[in-house]
Amino acid sequence: MNETLTIDGATVLVTGATGFIGHHLVQDLVGRGARVHCLVRKSSDASGLKEEGIRLHFGDLAEGPPPREALAGADYLFHCAGLTKAKTRKEYFLANALACRHLYEACGAHARNIKGIIHLSSLASAGPTPNGAPLTEASPCRPITYYGRSKLEGENIARDFASSLPICILRPPVVYGPREKNFFTFLKTIKNGIRLRIGTAPRTLSLIHVEDLVRAMLAAAERPPEAGSVFFVTDGGVYSWDEVSDTAMHHLRVRCRSITLPEGGLALAALVMEALGRLRKEAPLFDRQRVKDIRQSSWTASPEKFFAHYRFQPKFDMQTGLGETLGWYRENRWL
Ligand SMILES: NC(=O)c1ccc[n+]([C@@H]2O[C@H](COP(=O)([O-])OP(=O)(O)OC[C@H]3O[C@@H](n4cnc5c(N)ncnc54)[C@H](OP(=O)(O)O)[C@@H]3O)[C@@H](O)[C@H]2O)c1
Repeated sequence: MNETLTIDGATVLVTGATGFIGHHLVQDLVGRGARVHCLVRKSSDASGLKEEGIRLHFGDLAEGPPPREALAGADYLFHCAGLTKAKTRKEYFLANALACRHLYEACGAHARNIKGIIHLSSLASAGPTPNGAPLTEASPCRPITYYGRSKLEGENIARDFASSLPICILRPPVVYGPREKNFFTFLKTIKNGIRLRIGTAPRTLSLIHVEDLVRAMLAAAERPPEAGSVFFVTDGGVYSWDEVSDTAMHHLRVRCRSITLPEGGLALAALVMEALGRLRKEAPLFDRQRVKDIRQSSWTASPEKFFAHYRFQPKFDMQTGLGETLGWYRENRWL
């Protein structure tokens, strides 16, 4: 087992700090007394990054390297910046792949004392589960969407730098928790009394609560594995969408009307959403790329390698994690 380090009081750079996962990570780091440097874009809403101990640096990783001061003196780097929805293939590759090259080149030049780098990838980079058994790190990568392919390209770039930088690649599945906005739309539909099903075939997925993902990221940073290592990090469960809906209905105390959408109709609905997205000049949550995701019967991976290496135990399973998350949405009047 490698040397154990500590992040408490260390100097840390976080990219994507204005996003869902970055926000939770920064809160945790501030609580540990770390000096947290955040790379944000000029257009980012950084109003949630005002605590003592946080310093902002401005830069767009798709356009070029981060400013030198963001990296000089950094003990750790958490690369959480990325695009989970975009209008074009090019946008995905700029934000999820080229951005990594800009970042790691700058790391090599300026972050001379860096002890650990966590590269946040995604289960999407490996692709859906072809035969029912959850993917492992030995499974071949077969991404099916622009997002998944761009995340795999980001991983490949990270691996290119692993001979000189202590990079660990983590691949979470769907991440949920307080403040999350995409999975939330599904929960909101249930709150409104509608349980949406896609086709009639059963569909399964892996999940992780954001608090457990942050714990996993910190564990991997404090005990850096061999550079270039890759791990799936999930809560260890495999859930059907019906189980997720039933759990949400239970916590929300609602009864739902089930609506089964025919798979064939999804592409048409996606075209409409894409047209609306173009009018609003924003990336739609639901587009033809998302249809490719949704049509797969299984998006599952095994976290056993991570659990064994770090003796990691998630705090939440889907039932307890959804209960906590739905409680937060209610308390904060999102639901
Ligand atoms: N959420 C999930 O379910 C999930 C699952 C698996 C993997 N992941 C991965 O986890 C990471 C974080 O996801 P998230 O859910 O926290 O996403 P998010 O809420 O959309 O946040 C993305 C963050 O990246 C920043 N960003 C985007 N493009 C950038 C660029 N060109 N330069 C600098 N910063 C940029 C955004 O800044 P702005 O505020 O300026 O937009 C934002 O802070 C992503 O890499 C994603 O692929 C997420």
